[in-house]
Amino acid sequence: MVDAPDSKSGEGNLVRVRVSPALPTKNKIMKNIKNLTAVFSLFSTGITIVTNGTNRKQFFGCTVNSFSSLSLVPPKFLFCLGNENLNLKSFKFNSPLNVNFLAKSQLNLSNKFAGSLEKRWVNTKYKIANNKVPFFPESLGLLEAKVEKKVISGDHTIIICLITNCIKLNTKKPLIYYKSKYHTV
Ligand SMILES: Cc1cc2nc3c(=O)[nH]c(=O)nc-3n(C[C@H](O)[C@H](O)[C@H](O)COP(=O)(O)O)c2cc1C
Repeated sequence: MVDAPDSKSGEGNLVRVRVSPALPTKNKIMKNIKNLTAVFSLFSTGITIVTNGTNRKQFFGCTVNSFSSLSLVPPKFLFCLGNENLNLKSFKFNSPLNVNFLAKSQLNLSNKFAGSLEKRWVNTKYKIANNKVPFFPESLGLLEAKVEKKVISGDHTIIICLITNCIKLNTKKPLIYYKSKYHTV
């Protein structure tokens, strides 16, 4: 039994309601992270590289599959970065950033931008978008945006962004991530 607001007698009054034993109660939080990672990996996603910085010395890019569209009016998306990510601070309020939707042909770029920070921009072909942030012209599509809000939740921070421009770049096959491996459609 748990306490719940009584819809008949008004919001403030709590009544006792029966909860199915199959449902977890509020104190039961899943602890088996290994199993959770395995189940999360069954959700296939596209892959993006999020870039920011408006001069060469400050360029940052990171492979991200936590991207999700969020709103059409106003146009928004979100993605999540681990709280230990040293570049989290660079995603300041109103600062510009780009999201590159990766093509199958950009598998190596995906690995590169998930690897050593120092090597990410070495011998990497990029162009500069209208917002002065680098992007990868081989990508399927580009979203130019600015940071609207950051919400810390658990071990990640949700970064909510307002889209300032969007461009279809190529009609190639997408790069897909499923069961911790790369795929395509
Ligand atoms: C396919 C793929 C998807 C990833 N998605 C995310 C993500 O959504 N958020 C995140 O923080 N790191 C993600 N990572 C890990 C980062 O790319 C990176 O390796 C890690 O955050 C360390 O980055 P840093 O050196 O910039 O701190 C992903 C890695 C791969 C290979």
